[in-house]
Amino acid sequence: MEDKIVVHGPTAVHGTLRVSGAKNSVLKLMAAALLAEGETTIGNVPEIHDVVIMAELLRRLGCGVAYDRAERTVRIDVPARLHHQADYDLVRAMRASISVLGPLVARCRTAEVALPGGDAIGARGLDMHRAGLEAMGAVLQIEHGYLVASVPEALRGTAFRLDYPSVGATENLMMAATLAEGTTVVDNAAREPEIVDIGRMLQGMGARIEGLGTSTVTVHGVAALHPVEHRTVPDRIVAGTWAFAAAVTGGTVEILGAEPDHLTVVLDKLRAAGCRVDTGDGRLVVTGPERPRAVNVSTLPYPGFPTDLQPFVVALNAVAEGSGMVTENVFEARWGFTAELERLGAGVRLDGHHALVTGVPLLSGAPVEAKDIRAGAALVIAGMAAEGETEVHGVGHVDRGYEHFVEQLAAAGAAVERRIAGGA
Ligand code: UD1
Repeated sequence: MEDKIVVHGPTAVHGTLRVSGAKNSVLKLMAAALLAEGETTIGNVPEIHDVVIMAELLRRLGCGVAYDRAERTVRIDVPARLHHQADYDLVRAMRASISVLGPLVARCRTAEVALPGGDAIGARGLDMHRAGLEAMGAVLQIEHGYLVASVPEALRGTAFRLDYPSVGATENLMMAATLAEGTTVVDNAAREPEIVDIGRMLQGMGARIEGLGTSTVTVHGVAALHPVEHRTVPDRIVAGTWAFAAAVTGGTVEILGAEPDHLTVVLDKLRAAGCRVDTGDGRLVVTGPERPRAVNVSTLPYPGFPTDLQPFVVALNAVAEGSGMVTENVFEARWGFTAELERLGAGVRLDGHHALVTGVPLLSGAPVEAKDIRAGAALVIAGMAAEGETEVHGVGHVDRGYEHFVEQLAAAGAAVERRIAGGA
């Protein structure tokens, strides 16, 4: 038996919600710590389950890891000699484990990282991670379910163009290149704020990197890096989630600890849907209309509309006036949750990577199942715009990416509660 989230709708959010450090940054910052012997400290760490998994992975690689939830810090003590194997049980639980590949290749000249296998939101290949490291002189092969990398001579700088601006591949190549001989140029690199954050931490460790936040990242290799103290960038996907909670429920939220500049396209879409949006320093205020207008959205690499917020647009269109076309360009199979949303009465017509969503004034509560982090959060928000009780199962997914998700919504007045498995 697993916990579940129970929503009594319709119910709205009216209050202040907080944004933690970014999940998609902190996990890679923790991996980047492997590049320098000694104690690195990362701040603004979110209290989420994926951080616990990454901490366990680093311990198995030989690091001392002290995760202080109250202080929001992780201290990582990296030994001179690391183990170099990332086990299947951890990689399967969290695909971001693949981000230790680049640092291990650079530090140990050998790495064995379990292949993550299938994923609820698409195939998510590793071909660009592999091709980039091979261009730098590593030899990679698959053995017994592991991606095994070794560097026969030295890791050498190279010019490499990604077929697509992959977040994970850009990060792995950038991290590996910091300790390579010579200069690496990654063209068609991803430009996400989390990549800039990782790059800044690496610069703080002594790495020589140019072009962060642009499509061409240049890394001049150095002989060694040193430990650093670094603060994690705010989580733009959590900020976006809270903004959509107001948009879908007709509420008002003040979002603190956010970086509005990282959400420009998202905020434009919310305005188009009829929301009032005010931005300030580290702060956002979003007021949803009585009933939103449907919007057309295409997901794209940053600075385009983030795929991680796509489920929330579908939820918004599901209760909006009119019909909106949502096009998923990043993960081909990110539609699993639409069948769950249909259980709440949403009108969704799928055609390849398009979803035509036609709004109804009020959804109708039902039990639903979350299969990934964002789907879980989007189903809770959809449940808030549904008449009656919605039970969201698969809560473990929400815990992987959101800090105090239910508690924050409840404190902002939403009728949302967590029922502990086996509890009354
Ligand atoms: C990261 C984020 C994820 C976000 C995604 C896109 C983390 C932990 N996860 O995932 O939340 O949704 O960026 O913003 O940071 N691809 C290949 N071959 C490769 C690499 C990628 O085909 O070698 C494909 C993937 O299958 C996918 C697309 O490229 O269709 C995007 O993947 P990528 O940008 O690498 O995303 P992740 O780093 O996996």
